[in-house]
Amino acid sequence: MDIEKLILSRRTIKKFKQEELDVKTVESWLQTARVAPNHKMTEPWEVIFIGPETRKQLNHKTDFGKAPVVFAVLSHRGSSEAMRDENLAAVSCMIQNYLLLAWSHGVGTFWSSLGVSSSVKKTLEVSEEYDVVGIFGTGYPEEIPAEKERTPIKSKVKHMK
Ligand SMILES: Cc1cc2nc3c(=O)[nH]c(=O)nc-3n(C[C@H](O)[C@H](O)[C@H](O)COP(=O)(O)O)c2cc1C
Repeated sequence: MDIEKLILSRRTIKKFKQEELDVKTVESWLQTARVAPNHKMTEPWEVIFIGPETRKQLNHKTDFGKAPVVFAVLSHRGSSEAMRDENLAAVSCMIQNYLLLAWSHGVGTFWSSLGVSSSVKKTLEVSEEYDVVGIFGTGYPEEIPAEKERTPIKSKVKHMK
């Protein structure tokens, strides 16, 4: 699939097939995804694969759509607010790389914000040095939702003199 089709067809998946997805395959996509822009080569991401015991403790309302694989992506806070922002931007680039690469293999992803909660951070044993950018369920989609309409970019663009 070409990159444009890939971007346009990707969806957040909320229901997954009960088909196994090899963690090694996910790791190999993350290995590629890490070749993302990151200022000063901080490589601020960390990934935690969430096993069944921890997953139960997280008590997510849909259990991440019953995704076969669940992982959290963390961003290092760095030593200043500016660095924290830049690191979050870099980690978001890495995540989008993963989302698109997985999608190109027919694998969908559900991005949950659950990691913003301090109790979840505790469960994941995440230190104060990190933000949890998201917790991701990933697997083969059971359902692919319709595209959500976006505002034309024209209304969000201005050209300065
Ligand atoms: C930072 C971030 C946090 C998100 N958190 C959630 C979430 O907690 N629950 C959820 O259902 N979707 C979450 N999403 C997914 C968005 O709801 C989804 O991307 C949006 O509705 C557009 O749908 P699409 O991804 O299928 O195009 C999150 C996305 C981002 C970028």
